[in-house]
Amino acid sequence: MTTSRIVGFYNLPLGQRLKKLAEASGLTTEEIIAFQVSGLTMAQADHMVENAIGTFALPLGIGLNFIVNGRELLIPMAIEEPSVIAGASFMAKLVRAGGGFNTTTTEPEMIGQMQVLDIQDLFSASVKLLEQKPQLLAEANTIDPVLMKSGGGARDLEIRIIEDSPIGPFLVVHLIYDVRDAMGANAVNTACEKLAPRVEQITGGRVHLRILSNLADRRLAKAQCTVPLNELGFTDADGRVFTGGQVRDGIIEAWALAAVDPYRAATHNKGIMNGVDAVIIATGNDWRAIEAGAHAYAARDGRYTSLSIWGKDKNGNLTGEVEMPMAVGIIGGATKVNPTAIAALKLLGVKTASELAGIIVSVGLAQNLAALRALATEGIQRGHMSLHARQVAITAGATGVLIEKVAAQMIAEKTVRIDRAEEILKSFQ
Ligand code: MEV
Repeated sequence: MTTSRIVGFYNLPLGQRLKKLAEASGLTTEEIIAFQVSGLTMAQADHMVENAIGTFALPLGIGLNFIVNGRELLIPMAIEEPSVIAGASFMAKLVRAGGGFNTTTTEPEMIGQMQVLDIQDLFSASVKLLEQKPQLLAEANTIDPVLMKSGGGARDLEIRIIEDSPIGPFLVVHLIYDVRDAMGANAVNTACEKLAPRVEQITGGRVHLRILSNLADRRLAKAQCTVPLNELGFTDADGRVFTGGQVRDGIIEAWALAAVDPYRAATHNKGIMNGVDAVIIATGNDWRAIEAGAHAYAARDGRYTSLSIWGKDKNGNLTGEVEMPMAVGIIGGATKVNPTAIAALKLLGVKTASELAGIIVSVGLAQNLAALRALATEGIQRGHMSLHARQVAITAGATGVLIEKVAAQMIAEKTVRIDRAEEILKSFQ
């Protein structure tokens, strides 16, 4: 892709937008169509869950202007909330003026947990397990030959003694498992279940739980960006001028509250997850796993805090970074069944799960910046209002051109409410 900057994309009619997308991305007509139909067929859905009766659709949009590690990227985002896609695209435009997002990821290592109960001497059981570590890892590596072939496999075994719990002391064994381009839940859970009898033999204990941890803190993705100061200043719809310095400092001040206060940090991180989840869903990944990992990671020091950090560099430019666990896959599960997810991954052109992880945290950082910039200046509601007003107009019964008319009048009156929408609609009919 030559550029992710498609001027006027927002204002194009839907059909034209798809045409532009095809031109810019090189996707085939079939792949583009996969974005329009609701993805899964009924038969596919029936194979995926129990008691299937249908499928559930969400709006799918394109995050524009992104450059991640020097690559121009059009980002598929599935989300029902107005302003998220526009906000991320706008911030990606500011960030591209500073060179785009840079990302790093750790190895794609997941953690599988085995809870070992009924051990008399926890310390000597730990020593025995550590003595047997090479054999246990070798045994784990016989479990999934496909994963081994792709360069993954068991990497380490960690033993934790839980001194105090509601049922007294016990051992927890962590199997560190490199899952390469898979999300990894199945591989890790299988490995834990298969290793459990050996762990019981070695320790003389009873292995109870055998399950991966969603606090995937060995599988982290980090995105960083710099926004040049001169990109930050603007004049709002009411003619209020915000200088670059004011916007930058306002963003840092807003972040400071999230850094110290869990009440704000939860909302701040929700803004990050608006961007993260939209890409997770569009690519067929497990958003509950990502949510669980993100929030547990945000509380890793015993106090829930912001997942991002905002500051300034020596030239006064705004700097931002975000880091979180990112257990995503590009093989297996819905990523390979849902035609929309397949097309979304094709659009991103990712070759590894780590690459996808870096893109996702970049979108999270962009989304966080969009929210902080709005909150620190004109407030969040103005941006929300135009799409929200259209939704309210539709709910009130407006159709066709009346949707826009009713929405426009509510915005002009600064009253976006269902009762007002109904009144305005009546006055037009
Ligand atoms: C709304 O979905 C997300 C925000 O609340 C995030 C934030 O407050 O930073 C706007």
